[in-house]
Amino acid sequence: MIKNNLEFRKDVAFINRQRELSYLAEYINIRPESILFLHGPKSSGKTTLLYRFFQQLEKEQHLDVKFLNLRETFTNVYEDFLKSFFHVEGKGEKKEKLTSDINIGFFKISSTVEKQILEKRADPFKVMKSEFLAANKKGIKPILIIDELQALDRIYINNDKDRHLIIALFNFFVAMTKESHLAHIIIASSDGYFLDTVYNDSKLKKSSSFYKVDYLSKEDVMEWLLNLEKYSKIKDYTLTRGEAEMIWDTVGGSMWEIQDILNERFNKPTDAVLALIKDKMRGMIAHYAEFDEGKRQVLRVIDEKETVRSIDLEKLPIEIPRLKELLRDMVRNNILYFDPTQAVYYPQGRSYRWGIQLFFESLL
Ligand SMILES: Nc1ncnc2c1ncn2[C@@H]1O[C@H](COP(=O)(O)OP(=O)(O)OP(=O)(O)O)[C@@H](O)[C@H]1O
Ligand SMILES: [Mg+2]
Repeated sequence: MIKNNLEFRKDVAFINRQRELSYLAEYINIRPESILFLHGPKSSGKTTLLYRFFQQLEKEQHLDVKFLNLRETFTNVYEDFLKSFFHVEGKGEKKEKLTSDINIGFFKISSTVEKQILEKRADPFKVMKSEFLAANKKGIKPILIIDELQALDRIYINNDKDRHLIIALFNFFVAMTKESHLAHIIIASSDGYFLDTVYNDSKLKKSSSFYKVDYLSKEDVMEWLLNLEKYSKIKDYTLTRGEAEMIWDTVGGSMWEIQDILNERFNKPTDAVLALIKDKMRGMIAHYAEFDEGKRQVLRVIDEKETVRSIDLEKLPIEIPRLKELLRDMVRNNILYFDPTQAVYYPQGRSYRWGIQLFFESLL
């Protein structure tokens, strides 16, 4: 978040995350041994957490932290990847752009090296490694944080279809962590399927750690909602414990939705805001599942259980390839979250659970 002195009726809150920040701090206190994957449902706060962590680290000396947010860079072909990872020194732009949410920190190269890389005479992985090596020699610990790494999926090195960039990058990250212990590598993604591919790659299974960043706990939500002025700078209204409980019951710890409720609450009473959300979610599920019996069958199983394993779905009268396609579609559309470490599916959040439940009730 960019800090400034602008006055608003409501500000962006940041609640707790002590446990997560301590975990990350511990991770970089141990000599690099594995890649760390942060996963978690859509909008569970992964990027925000990483920015916070980055801000903490910035104050520390003897660290060289690079933060690449690939969602914000257009990565389509190999040259885009080079542009998002490398930066030619002295090419006009400031080397670090803290005032914007763009990438913070690149591998710095000279224009000669850039030319060599583009002409395929220099290997970008060697360039990264030599920067890590140089930092280590100076007593500086390199930390590379990459958000939304799946943006690089489907990119090929030098556009050669046999050389998948992600695979090459992972091999490189394994070499940098598990094998030569030169740098810490932290990767975040909300694409459970992408991480699953990573997880199932036998080479990575033993060389990566997974850490889940989830929505806020009930305790955190209550603390936030009962202290709106402290956390969100809201002076216009306060919420009763009963209202806070109702909000938790509707959207759980989903911060993005809580923010939305707080915005709406300026104009409407809490129960009206929550009724609208539930109805919106029901409508969204109805629209998603219309004309598709297969989707409804899967959602019915989801409605009946907290979490669903693929084995629970195999009993449905749906061919396996079609079932896989349906699940993929639900994950891609952020209706279900797929937890790659447990191999289970569940609704992205409490409001989705409401949407599914109310949709089936409306059919009765
Ligand atoms: N600790 C927190 N307290 C309050 N609000 C938070 C917190 N962390 C994140 N948020 C808010 O939740 C929303 C989603 O956060 P963020 O974009 O970091 O999630 P994400 O997991 O990276 O999402 P995506 O899955 O899209 O990558 C943002 O509006 C952010 O301001
Ligand atoms: Mg994110």
